[in-house]
Amino acid sequence: MLESTIIRSFLGLALLVVLPLIATPVVSIRVAKAQEKLKLPLGLQGDAAFIPDDNLQTPEKIALGKMFFWDKRHSASGTVACVSCHQSNHGWSDPRQFSINFAGKPMPRHTPTIVNRLFSDQQLWTGLRASLEEQVLKDLNRTDEKVVEHLGSIPAYQQEFRKIFGHDLEPIGVAKAIAAYVRTIVSGNSPYDRFVAGDKSALSTEAQRGLALFEGKARCVSCHAGFNFTDESYRNVGVGMDKPNPDLGRYTVTKNETDKGGFKTPTLRDVARRGPYMHDGSEKTLEEIVAFYNQGGVKNPWLSSDVKPLKLTAQEQKNLVAFLQSLTGEIDPEVGNPPPLPQ
Ligand code: HEC
Ligand code: HEC
Repeated sequence: MLESTIIRSFLGLALLVVLPLIATPVVSIRVAKAQEKLKLPLGLQGDAAFIPDDNLQTPEKIALGKMFFWDKRHSASGTVACVSCHQSNHGWSDPRQFSINFAGKPMPRHTPTIVNRLFSDQQLWTGLRASLEEQVLKDLNRTDEKVVEHLGSIPAYQQEFRKIFGHDLEPIGVAKAIAAYVRTIVSGNSPYDRFVAGDKSALSTEAQRGLALFEGKARCVSCHAGFNFTDESYRNVGVGMDKPNPDLGRYTVTKNETDKGGFKTPTLRDVARRGPYMHDGSEKTLEEIVAFYNQGGVKNPWLSSDVKPLKLTAQEQKNLVAFLQSLTGEIDPEVGNPPPLPQ
């Protein structure tokens, strides 16, 4: 503990000196330090992780956050837990088009997967939240008062919380613990990753052709880029834009005209495990999605210039689906096992 404090203040001093010279690499140095103990599956890149300095990953904190994630008493009504909507056995998303919230009402947008959130700072389809901690703290299914009242009255939670945070249970620590747990929901070591690592038998010929289309003729990679299959940007592909009063997405956060109808490019890892898809849950299958892009999305004034009719043959569309299926990876089974909850 003391040793790490000394190392960290030394690091801080060193950064202070070096900072003016090299502005950009500093972030990755800091994150890399925080990441030292993270074991990531094949295909994921630790230096791309976002872990705030004031919420480093520890096994105790992660275990406590996991219980809160599963505990319905976290919500204002005691009727939903995070896992009710982000279901571990459905790609950490919801088979329902719109999840039912703490008040028994449907949510306005489809529940996204929370796989590989470790690699993103901004959260939500619109990027409204600047961090995972902020996202948990402002989740609309909870209130500060009820979190303290419901969870704080459970002796085992109080005891564990005090051990980790050094004081009585309060909302920010609860949010930090849950965020730390969510950062462990990582998926990698998919057939695609094994293929890239040199095992040429890991992908079928069909999926290999799909990969070539994904990176070439079908242009998917212009947005679903990099090892996590997202460039973390907000794009208008036209979903829902043919409806009256469409959801304007990213625009509701920035008020920039060009952001109208833009939504966050989701990761495609584990995509075959979830569905329905898109911010409004309007596409039911991967076949439907590929057909959607093949026709050039939905025309509207703000459509991304990267979305155009693709003229893919029926076989090419099948190949793309086979490739998407090859992104189904492995998550440490312990991460998804329901924890016993204290009474
Ligand atoms: C009633 C269903 C429901 C519950 C309960 C719920 N969520 Fe969500 N979650 C959603 C929906 C819907 C969205 C997308 C909202 C939007 O973008 O406007 C979302 C978005 C998120 C995101 C952003 C994902 C991304 O790709 O940007 C994270 C992270 C998240 N939730 C974590 C949690 C955690 C942790 C809890 C428990 C504290 C929780 N959620 C509880 C439905 C739910
Ligand atoms: C211009 C950027 C862009 C391009 C090009 C693009 N996508 Fe997307 N993709 C997005 C965005 C943004 C979303 C979310 C849209 C929404 O919900 O409104 C999305 C959503 C998806 C989803 C749903 C994922 C989920 O969890 O709901 C899949 C699957 C997908 N895209 C596959 C593809 C494939 C395959 C291609 C190539 C044929 C492709 N995308 C091309 C930006 C893009």
